[in-house]
Amino acid sequence: MSIAIDGPSGAGKSTVAKALAKRLKIPYVDTGAMYRAIAYAYLEGGRPEDLEEFLKTMPLKISPEGIYYKGKLLDKELRTSEVTMLSSSLSKEAPVRQYLLEDQRRLGQDHNVVMEGRDIGTVVLKDAAFKFFLTADVDLRAKRRHEQNIEKGLESNLEEVKEDLLKRDQQDLHREIAPLKQARDAILIDSSHLTLEETVEKMAQYVEEGQ
Ligand code: DC
Repeated sequence: MSIAIDGPSGAGKSTVAKALAKRLKIPYVDTGAMYRAIAYAYLEGGRPEDLEEFLKTMPLKISPEGIYYKGKLLDKELRTSEVTMLSSSLSKEAPVRQYLLEDQRRLGQDHNVVMEGRDIGTVVLKDAAFKFFLTADVDLRAKRRHEQNIEKGLESNLEEVKEDLLKRDQQDLHREIAPLKQARDAILIDSSHLTLEETVEKMAQYVEEGQ
């Protein structure tokens, strides 16, 4: 059974997806981290001009445990604002999306998973048993992301976080390939006035009652 969770940046997808996966005792797959890993590798590689050639030789390994770059498990380096903005720009490029699609489908088809991103319900796992579109008011999304950054020990400025979110929303919503969009059969969850626990509870109820 696969569960797709899509939605704009900062809606709490990762936290909610992780908690839901834990509750359902199935793995969690963060596809945003994959786009971020490509952005990280691209920067490390000196912003190579030929994207397709770069993708062919990129030393990334995507596994259920995480993403490795030259054998090193990537974590905090994926959360810098440079990598964040670049991941959104690179995610517009067809070769990048194509490169990741296979890995994402493999992870979604071989396992029961909770997979989160922007195009999981519309493209990657069209047949997911449950699809959710998680959103929240932009000011709340910015505030949550800002607090998360501080918790992780990253530098953060609320106004900048909000500007970056709005810019990424624009890029992710309006790109040609696989834009951020609610799948027709997705359940809309607005978490603006819900706690994390309430959001997870609501989604888990849909899953547990719908099985
Ligand atoms: O979820 P995130 O913020 O970690 O994602 C980083 C970027 O990757 C986001 O701005 C858009 C892109 N992305 C995408 O295009 N498709 C996905 N399924 C997941 C992320």
